[in-house]
Amino acid sequence: MGVMSSRISARISAISESATLAVDAKAKAMKAAGRPVIGFGAGEPDFPTPGYIVEAAIEAARDPRFHKYTPAGGLPELKQAIAAKTLRDSGYQVDASRVLVTNGGKQAVYQAFATLLDPGDEVLVVAPYWTTYPEAIKLAGGVQVDVVTDETSGYLASVEQLEAARTERTKVLLFVSPSNPTGAVYSREQVEAIGRWAAEHGLWVVTDEIYEHLVYGGAEFTSIATAVPELGDKVVILNGVAKTYAMTGWRVGWLIGPADVVKAATNLQSHATSNVANVSQIAALGAVSGDLSAVAEMREAFDRRRQTMVRMLNDIPGVLCPEPLGAFYVYPSVKALLGKEIRGKRPQTSAELAELILEEAEVAVVPGEAFGTPGYFRLSYALGDDDLVEGVSRLQKLLSEAK
Ligand SMILES: Cc1ncc(COP(=O)(O)O)c(C=O)c1O
Repeated sequence: MGVMSSRISARISAISESATLAVDAKAKAMKAAGRPVIGFGAGEPDFPTPGYIVEAAIEAARDPRFHKYTPAGGLPELKQAIAAKTLRDSGYQVDASRVLVTNGGKQAVYQAFATLLDPGDEVLVVAPYWTTYPEAIKLAGGVQVDVVTDETSGYLASVEQLEAARTERTKVLLFVSPSNPTGAVYSREQVEAIGRWAAEHGLWVVTDEIYEHLVYGGAEFTSIATAVPELGDKVVILNGVAKTYAMTGWRVGWLIGPADVVKAATNLQSHATSNVANVSQIAALGAVSGDLSAVAEMREAFDRRRQTMVRMLNDIPGVLCPEPLGAFYVYPSVKALLGKEIRGKRPQTSAELAELILEEAEVAVVPGEAFGTPGYFRLSYALGDDDLVEGVSRLQKLLSEAK
């Protein structure tokens, strides 16, 4: 054991750096050094937060009432509005007392697993998965069991696959649709089948609904909580304003669950971070109690970019890009390019290929290693149309040199 491991606890040194943020940081550093990097790494809309939300926050910032702590679990009026929004968007009826307002969806993820898991409890996680889940599960002492999917199924897991991964220790199924990083969206029938299977085996379902409003091409978002009433109270919904209202920097998310889970998670939060910034909560109140016109506009832009991206990527020999139906990511396979020579180098992994691309084409993509499935890239299409076309053109040019 080195010096580091004695200085830093085993629990915390087991946490890896967020690979998506690392790629983003490297791209930003290159940009700052004057290099014209185009970044497909970031998981945030390129739009500003809608004006009426910003105005609500400005007004609140001027009012001393909002300079104070709120209850740890959030402003009562915000919890009420989140309950109403959940009924509107998910068809899920829930009392405001079962809502916990968190510092972004991320804190909801951490607190959900911290509240549900004892050491050794297993969580079924469909791979490719968002980078934060494994760390939150590990920190809670849980054991992640991967259910690996690939492009041949559109990155959708089947009940058979889930059943093959279930053991006596399985406590939770993590269900994410639309998915980050693949953009996969489960149909209502698939959601029902998976939910019923979970209910039959008495599993908890933690479901991340943060991309609920970003679905395309006739796909529909289905909340597993509503679609499968048999799950009873063993459902925890995670959500937030970041993606729907272009509010990543405001840090407001929430967790919805049964009374005991919400109570326990609120106790945890009360000691960790207390309440979310009061002014941010007012901004979120403006967002969730307003209409969905802003996200409809973003969705239109994302849909256009999604189609451009899929078409251009599939034109590159060696790149295979299934059409995602949700979120704002594509997840192409680049396996056919590995081991080939490009500019005198022979990248053997998607991580090496991503590094070569950043150096040679000044384009940042996140390698599949970050999401539990090497051999792929994640590209966000939440960036301007011109940059998107320029970035993928650079990829086309560089990768067509592979031999
Ligand atoms: C699937 C998923 N869940 C939750 C989050 C959390 O978002 P935030 O903490 O910004 O609300 C993200 C952000 O990237 C995400 O992709």
